[in-house]
This record gives sequence, C-alpha cells and structure tokens, in this order.
Amino acid sequence: MRITDSLSDLRQIRKSMEGTFGLVPTMGALHAGHVSLVKRARNECSHVGVSIFVNPAQFGPTEDFARYPRSLDADLKLLEKSGVDVVWTPTAKSVYPAGYQTWITVGEVSEPLEGKCRPGHFRGVTTVVAKLFNCFRPDKAYFGQKDAQQVAVLKRMVLDLDYPVELVVCPTVREPDGLALSSRNAYLSPSERKAAVVLYKALSAAKEKYDDGERDAEVLRAAMRSVIGSEPLADLSYVSAADPITLRELDSIKNGILLSLAVRIGKTRLIDNILL
Ligand code: PAJ
Repeated sequence: MRITDSLSDLRQIRKSMEGTFGLVPTMGALHAGHVSLVKRARNECSHVGVSIFVNPAQFGPTEDFARYPRSLDADLKLLEKSGVDVVWTPTAKSVYPAGYQTWITVGEVSEPLEGKCRPGHFRGVTTVVAKLFNCFRPDKAYFGQKDAQQVAVLKRMVLDLDYPVELVVCPTVREPDGLALSSRNAYLSPSERKAAVVLYKALSAAKEKYDDGERDAEVLRAAMRSVIGSEPLADLSYVSAADPITLRELDSIKNGILLSLAVRIGKTRLIDNILL
C-alpha cells in the first residue's frame, strides 16, 4: 500500500496503474462502515484508493472540526488489511493554499435538512469531492447511504458537471442495536450511547407504519417525532419524509421515500435515514 500526502506523488502512482480505479473518500477515524465501502471497491475495481482528509471547509465555525477524531495509524493498518493500493493524506494547506477562492455549490437539493442546519456544509463537501475526483481521476467513487443528502448532492454535481465517475452508494452499516456506525459515536457517554438508538427506533416505527400501508408522509414524520420525544436525552433537529432525489418534503407517498432525521444527544449531533 502506497501512502502519500503529495499530489504529484499521487498523480504519478495513478498514472502507473492500469485497469479501473475505485475511490473511497473519507475523513478518517475509520470504522466498519468505511471498510464496507473499501470492500465493495476492492470487489469491483482493479485498484482502490482512499483519501483521509478532515476537510475544514465542510465544518461550520461552531462545529467539531478541532475535536473531530483522528486515528491515522489505526486507519492505515485497517486499510492495508483491506487491500487498499493507495492512500492520500493531504494537508489542509495543500488542499486550500493561500489565495484559494474556487467553490462548487449545488442548488436546491443542498438547501433543506443538513443544508439548512449546517450552512456552507455542502459547499465544503462538493468542493473537496470535486478536487478529489480531479486528483484521483476514479472510474467509480463509493459513498455511504448513511449520508443520504450528501449522496443526493454529489449525484447532482456529477450529473451537472459531467464528471466521468460512477457513484456507488453502499448500505448503512449498523451496530447490533441499530445505531448507524459513525466516527462521531466516539463522543457519546455510555448513557448517551444507549439513548442514541432512538434514531433507529424512530425510523423503524415509521417504516412499520409504511409497511402496514400508510402512505401519508406527515403520519410517518409524526411517528418519528413521537419516538424521539420519548427519549429524555434526545433533542430533535428535524425529521423528514422526502423525495429521495429532490429531497422535497412529500405529502403522499407514490414512489420511493427517504425518511431522515437529525438528533442531538447531549452535545453530539447524529443523523440517520432509511430509504423505502
Ligand atoms: P466520512 O464521514 O469519513 O465518511 C466517509 C464515507 O463513509 C461517506 O461516504 C459516508 O457516507 C460513509 N459512511 C459513514 N458511516 C457509514 C456507515 N455506518 N455505513 C456505511 N457507510 C458509512 O462523508 C464524509 O466523510 C465526507 O463528507 C467526505 C465525503 C469524505 C468529504 O469530505
């Protein structure tokens, strides 16, 4: 496995590779969710690259950039074991050098939900992912359904900017009790960790109604709100029952629906979703 923080090294390594190339962009603090993307890429591509970069541009001024978990040594061991060919670990100064002033913004689909709660977040995500695509030139790029709006926004960007990249969306990996794996779960105290299962419980309650034939989206939103309301440690940011592509809130469900929510457990903000 080659490891470099230099873009010219990365370009040289990439140039020497034949066959298809799969990219897994990450911010490190890797867990089984990240590894599932790497495994999928390993199965589908001749070569696999991973980026580890805690992207300052996608964190708001009051968010957790400074304390975001960093575990480079453990991450590299995990990636080596998973059969990764190249890992790029650029510095913030090299990604955004002095004088940097070019940003990618996606329109409507980046505005609600996370876009509303985290102004500028998706501008940071789309800009860094566009740069990663330019640096790695992947044939396929792997993202988790865990970050459903990120997927919707990036799909729109790839379509609108004619990126010759296929986005592959991989299912959310969960703990046995249903909590979606997330690097931010490391912030939770034992009692908060127990309470955090309420996100999955809320999604499951809404799914149960859907499976029983309920097609009024507001009923599903109300079911999620009610479950979150029953957990004293949970502070609801939003619940949503939206079109999976446009992310517009739905009244009645005709085709697919994306149920999603964001909840603060203590100081930790968690998101989760399911696609029905
Ligand atoms: P990060 O949070 O490190 O996640 C990297 C990738 O892993 C994302 O595509 C995310 O959706 C996926 N992922 C996270 N938890 C998962 C889980 N439980 N199951 C399946 N996949 C999971 O998302 C980012 O980084 C950044 O925004 C990035 C795309 C790297 C741009 O900076």
